[in-house]
Order: sequence, then C-alpha cells, then structure tokens
Amino acid sequence: MALLSILEYPDKRLRTLASPVLENNDEIQKLISNMFETMYEAPGVGLAATQVNIHKRIITIDTSDNQKSPLVLINPEFEVIDSDSDNLQEGCLSIPGFYETLQRPKHIKVTALDKNFKGQQFEATGLLAVCIQHEIDHLNGILYVDHISRLKRSRIKSKLEKLHKQQ
Ligand code: NI
Repeated sequence: MALLSILEYPDKRLRTLASPVLENNDEIQKLISNMFETMYEAPGVGLAATQVNIHKRIITIDTSDNQKSPLVLINPEFEVIDSDSDNLQEGCLSIPGFYETLQRPKHIKVTALDKNFKGQQFEATGLLAVCIQHEIDHLNGILYVDHISRLKRSRIKSKLEKLHKQQ
C-alpha cells in the first residue's frame, strides 16, 4: 500500500469529470487500498479518486470512529428520499482547515457497485448521506465551496493560495 497525494483547492484538476469504471482489475483494487490508507492517514471520512488525481468513479468512505466500516462505492448514483437538510458541517481533505454548514438532502437511496463489482442498493441518512453526496460531487468536479456564498468561497481560495505559495 502507499499514501497518495491529495490535490488541494483551487487546483483545476479537481474540476475533472471522472469516468465510469468498466472492469475490475488489480490496478483498481490497488487504488482502492491506497485510497483507504490515504483517507485514514489524513484522517478523513471520505475520499474520491478525483482527489488523488485519478479520474475514475470510485469513492472510499468510513464514517465510523474506529476504521471498522470501510465502504467502497464504484459508479455511485443516488436518489433523494427526503430533501430536508440536517444542516451538517462539512470539511474536505482538498480544502484543509475549513468547515462550512451546507444544506443537502438528509435521506437518500444509493445505487453503486461494491469493491467486488457487485451491485448494491441501500438507504443512507445523517453523516453518511452527506458524505456520499459530497464525494459524488467530487466525481463530477464539484467542491463543497461551490455550494456556499461567493464571498466565503473567495476568502477560502485566497487563504489556501497563500498557504500553497509558502510551501
Ligand atoms: Ni471532499
């Protein structure tokens, strides 16, 4: 396994639309292992392949506090069951150090392939529902800052640009 480097906002590569994964192979399984290692190390509760500059529709998630609930979603899609929001705070490994409260549907139905490319369908609520929507956004080149005000977004952008220059 290996740690992958995570792209940071406003890196333009985060705007890439990821392609569906058509077949399971060693390369995909290695990527999934490395994504989990990278996500746990960060630490974070979700990672999209887009964030490690691999533009395939793969997400790793673990919202447990003991790394015991790894979830792999390949080619994920969702339908809204309840569009009301829990107004949960979100962070992002590609936007380190910032958190914003977003409105997202609190109850969704998810369809995806699992790690073994078996079809799965399940309902998600709470943090898991938010996390899945956040990561699917990444696969579509969308970041959570796109859902907040332009003023807040430009403030985050200039602070991160300043940090990147110092590195
Ligand atoms: Ni993110």
